[in-house]
Amino acid sequence: MNYTGKLKQTVTEKFEYIPKANVQTFGCVQNENDSEKIRGILAQSGYEISDNFEVSDIVIFNTCAIRENAELKIFGNIGKLKALKAENPNMIVAVCGCMVMQPHIVEKIKKSYPFVDIVFGVNSIEDLPHIVYNWYVNNKRQVSNPEVKTEIVEDIPVYRESKSKATISIMYGCDNFCSYCIVPYVRGRERSRKPADILEEFTQLVNEGYKDITLLGQNVDSYGKNLDENIDFADLLNMLCKVEGDYVLHFMSSHPKDITKKVIDTIRDNPKISRQIHLPVQSGNDRILSLMNRRYTVQQYKDIINYAKEQIPDVGFSSDIIVGFPGETFEEYLDTENLVKEINFTQLFTFIYSKRTGTKAATMEDDTSHKEKSERLNRLVKIQQDIFFEYLNSFKGQTVRALVEERKGNTYSARMANTLVVHFESDKENLMDEFVKLKVTGKKGTVLTADLIIN
Ligand code: 5AD
Ligand code: SF4
Repeated sequence: MNYTGKLKQTVTEKFEYIPKANVQTFGCVQNENDSEKIRGILAQSGYEISDNFEVSDIVIFNTCAIRENAELKIFGNIGKLKALKAENPNMIVAVCGCMVMQPHIVEKIKKSYPFVDIVFGVNSIEDLPHIVYNWYVNNKRQVSNPEVKTEIVEDIPVYRESKSKATISIMYGCDNFCSYCIVPYVRGRERSRKPADILEEFTQLVNEGYKDITLLGQNVDSYGKNLDENIDFADLLNMLCKVEGDYVLHFMSSHPKDITKKVIDTIRDNPKISRQIHLPVQSGNDRILSLMNRRYTVQQYKDIINYAKEQIPDVGFSSDIIVGFPGETFEEYLDTENLVKEINFTQLFTFIYSKRTGTKAATMEDDTSHKEKSERLNRLVKIQQDIFFEYLNSFKGQTVRALVEERKGNTYSARMANTLVVHFESDKENLMDEFVKLKVTGKKGTVLTADLIIN
């Protein structure tokens, strides 16, 4: 049954105006991508997409479970809706995404958040029209544990805010079971989309004028493993780069145990692929890496980085790091510091280890104080800041190409293929979503400043 049509009809009858839908995203780019699908479905079902929850008739929280901090913040935001819901009982409050794939969280919502009307699962986005339709018809709370679904549903409409920047999921789930990580439990087993479906979506985006396209997966290097076709991630990149057009292709995330020389060679041979690779290392110590179940050594990590630097002179690496993993000694932490200084990452995302119920690491003894862990984090952030400012300085005087993303007055903000942000002044009107050529004059905080040369 087509519930999108049924919901649209119900919504049209029920409201004397076009009802508004507000979708709030927490967490990673994959969640952003899911939210674009949720908005696409709601737009098709008769809602107007709004960025203001206070005036919306349905508010959806697309949540993240990766760290406890994220969950606390989300509950704080959900709590803010209590008063609004009391004033307007016809407003629907829904919670979806990774956080609600954990039964203890659903219990908490059931018990302490009676104004939450709907909970739905991370891979149940296509069921949303049915669920919302049921709520209007029965006016009954639908809060139960969502199941982990594994099939891939194609042809979900996507509502994209940007006219130049887009993401495409090439695979879902994760099979790696890094010992600290909740993702394999909440997003299920790894499965790849068919190359033909990805190519179709990619070609359409390029034809619509999208210029910055990111391929998404928890572990893009294992793309293709469960498909009938004989295709790997490098083959997919090669296939997509054949699409004619002026664009930059990014991907994330790679896994150091799976990224191949073939992938590096493919980047080298395709100027359309960004020279910026996100390769999460997590720790610079072999004992900790082994406890984390990362399945590579520090030396193997360095080997692939060195190979990439040989093949692609202008390559840059960003990374994720966890400090304070259970049992990490100060000396072991120092190994991470040394690795960070040695590699010269262009960008680093640093986290304090957060215990996640149900993971292997949650059972490991953890006797380091939070204060000590915070100190480790602060040291690392400071080291990376110095490296980053040096990196920014190295662009001074260079001519660069960047895609214009934002305008405030006459100040434009543009992003280079290596993801650095550049600000420049211009009174020209037609620069949004276009590539521009800029001459870098300096830096201001964490962004580069530049003069416009040509557009
Ligand atoms: N605690 C802290 N950081 C975590 N990450 C994943 N799980 C945890 C956790 N339990 C980090 C990893 C990963 C990034 C997306 O989030 O560094 O690469
Ligand atoms: Fe989590 Fe590891 Fe999978 Fe990344 S690769 S999502 S860190 S289990």
